Amino acid sequence: MRIISVLFFNCFIIFLSAQSLYVKEINALLNPALKPFYFGVASGDPGQTEVVIWTKVWNETSEPVNVKWEVAIDTLMQHIVATGQLITDTSSANTIKIQVKELMPNTTYFYRFTTGDVFSPTGRTKTAPVEADELRFAVVSCNNYEHGYFNAYRLIANRNDISAVIHLGDYIYEYGANNSTKHPSVRQHIPDHEILTLQDYRSRYAQYRLDKDLQEAHRLHPFISEWDDHEFANDAYIDGAKNHQPEEGDWKTREAIAKKVYFEWIPITDNATDNIIRKLSYGNLADVFMLDGRTEGRCKQVESPYDTMLTCVTRTMLGKKQCDWLTAGIDNSPAQWKVVANQVVFSELDAHQLSKKHAINPDAWDGYPEERKEILDSFYQHQVKNIIIMTGDIHLSWAFDLVQNPKDKSRYNAKTGKGVIGAEYVVPSVSSNGLGERFPRGLCNLIGSIIKHKSTNPHLRFQNLVDHGYVLLDLNKERAKATWFFCKTLKSRSPQYKAKDSYSTKFNENRLVREK
Ligand SMILES: [Fe+2]
Repeated sequence: MRIISVLFFNCFIIFLSAQSLYVKEINALLNPALKPFYFGVASGDPGQTEVVIWTKVWNETSEPVNVKWEVAIDTLMQHIVATGQLITDTSSANTIKIQVKELMPNTTYFYRFTTGDVFSPTGRTKTAPVEADELRFAVVSCNNYEHGYFNAYRLIANRNDISAVIHLGDYIYEYGANNSTKHPSVRQHIPDHEILTLQDYRSRYAQYRLDKDLQEAHRLHPFISEWDDHEFANDAYIDGAKNHQPEEGDWKTREAIAKKVYFEWIPITDNATDNIIRKLSYGNLADVFMLDGRTEGRCKQVESPYDTMLTCVTRTMLGKKQCDWLTAGIDNSPAQWKVVANQVVFSELDAHQLSKKHAINPDAWDGYPEERKEILDSFYQHQVKNIIIMTGDIHLSWAFDLVQNPKDKSRYNAKTGKGVIGAEYVVPSVSSNGLGERFPRGLCNLIGSIIKHKSTNPHLRFQNLVDHGYVLLDLNKERAKATWFFCKTLKSRSPQYKAKDSYSTKFNENRLVREK
């Protein structure tokens, strides 16, 4: 049965490939000076001896295109260390991805592509170290094109001190144009309808990747990426999504299209099953665990916090296989810091004083308490500490002491750090609307004071509910420090931040402290 459905899907894809790759509105966004490399270059999934490099050749015909690639140790591309050629065609939307191997650890490389006599821009990337005293990652999530300019990406592109960008998902949004009724769009989505078809998804990625700031961040840093829900549709789970209706067609077909296009456009290691679950090793200092909290094992969200199904032991977000992989991987990790690139908020968050109906967020880990308990039980049982959970999805900034049963004073003490095994750093959206766009500042402050109260959420140590930007995760042998950089504006291009806040957790001590 599976073979028949795979064959059917492949035929379906071939049929769709016969039509134009993109909606015609994309043409107006192309800068003729960059032809045919309008979408720049990118790299990703850096290992100690390998990295993925990516580009896309714009081809108006369906003819295959021959592309040469080169990797060098100098910006002038004179000392070439790896090179090759390949042919791309419309079956992959003329995207090109190469896994460059036999590189040196902890080394900066430069790369470019050539077709005919035209060179692509030169990209910069960096392999992972075997031994490191310090590592820095820029961590991002949720860049909605309509909601503002990607100034966080410009801030990141301007840095020369990071090893990689970790993207926690919502790299695109599936909505049509002017979707937000509460806040005027800064820019309009192409196509103007909700994306459903192969052409739609490709067009949406094309539009996002023509953003100069995102393109420059890709050109200058390797990305380590995972998807969340909007790469598919809002509140996606294994069999559907809140924003997918029966009249929009078969969910599994839509999911397969979305995965195919994600792997076409994102500089992520290819594999036969379009699987994003993987571990990246940064030597002695960090292991980075990339999760799929959407398509692998997530049961449908409950409708209400009082649904008796909430605590059913068979309800999972990761699924048993992924959950076992994560707990075993963390238990056995020799690295000093175990970084988990996680989509939705992991820590308990009690919001019942704001709203009884919305006392928990059923799409977050609060909606899957039994699987979370299993994961935390494993960490405590094996006495694992120094776990850093990086979270996106929610469009606000929080820092939690990572702890089980935060309200149980016999097990957790915020002052001494008793019971704390790590930290959860929640990163703001790059641009997607948050509370600040929905409510006046005074109401946001009131909401904030209710949430961040020691009687309801004693483990919540920092919050900013209104600003947008990114987090710099700075790891060394003594501490894991997060710095939230908040953009000055999203309404125009601006390479400035207006404020920053830093919290850190000391190695083996794990209590969050504010840093000046
Ligand atoms: Fe989001």
